[in-house]
Amino acid sequence: MTARAAPLTPHGYFITGTDTGVGKTLIACALLHAFAARGLRVAGMKPVAAGAEWRNGTLINEDVEYLTAASNVNAPRKLVNPYCLEPPIAPHIAAALAGVQISINHLIECYEQLSALADVVMVEGAGGFCVLLNPGETFADLATALNLPVILVVGMRLGCINHALLTAQAIRACGLTLAGWIANHIDPAMAQADANVTTLQACLDAPLIARIAHQAQAARAPSALAASFDLSAIS
Ligand SMILES: Nc1ncnc2c1ncn2[C@@H]1O[C@H](COP(=O)(O)OP(=O)(O)O)[C@@H](O)[C@H]1O
Ligand SMILES: [Mg+2]
Repeated sequence: MTARAAPLTPHGYFITGTDTGVGKTLIACALLHAFAARGLRVAGMKPVAAGAEWRNGTLINEDVEYLTAASNVNAPRKLVNPYCLEPPIAPHIAAALAGVQISINHLIECYEQLSALADVVMVEGAGGFCVLLNPGETFADLATALNLPVILVVGMRLGCINHALLTAQAIRACGLTLAGWIANHIDPAMAQADANVTTLQACLDAPLIARIAHQAQAARAPSALAASFDLSAIS
């Protein structure tokens, strides 16, 4: 693939999903590899992580580790992951339990500093688009404040059409662009998977950037998926 000039806008993407556990992290990492293969400086960001364990005095979240490993710039952890909460529960509840106030302004400052280090920043939400950050604000508000195009990872399983269409509606209701979507086949036994993808293609009104087959555990390396994406649709 030939290297090309860095896109000036958009500089970042907000990665959301139809739910938790649908492949946002895997896809965000694969997209980082795909942009890196074009010669761009790339950084992942996980604004708020809930679910972490202590290692050598530091709270470590798996998504942050994966996103960091897929990035090709050295960015301080406090910018990559401004809020890291220990229990694997709804972030606003984890924050309340820890006495932490999650601030969108702080997240914007971190994003701006991170984006000064990279050509492309992939911002991974937590759970779905309307997950709460605090009692009054959601990840949708964060994506809106950052004014980022949104990439939707659809975890292909029964029920995903409803979740995908509701999420697309919510993204557009915020005035944001649904830059594209990914059909991620997390359920290898899904009945009528092709018909579900075709339906979503007809209804989502945004480009299908990639269709990712179910990956065997050993083959789940994001770098191996980097060639799957049609980046021309989003950059
Ligand atoms: N296409 C796929 N095939 C097989 N397993 C997948 C696929 N996509 C994601 N997974 C697995 O599903 C789990 C959840 O994926 P992850 O990227 O962490 O989701 P999220 O970030 O949305 O919570 C991980 O174990 C991941 O390796
Ligand atoms: Mg994740």
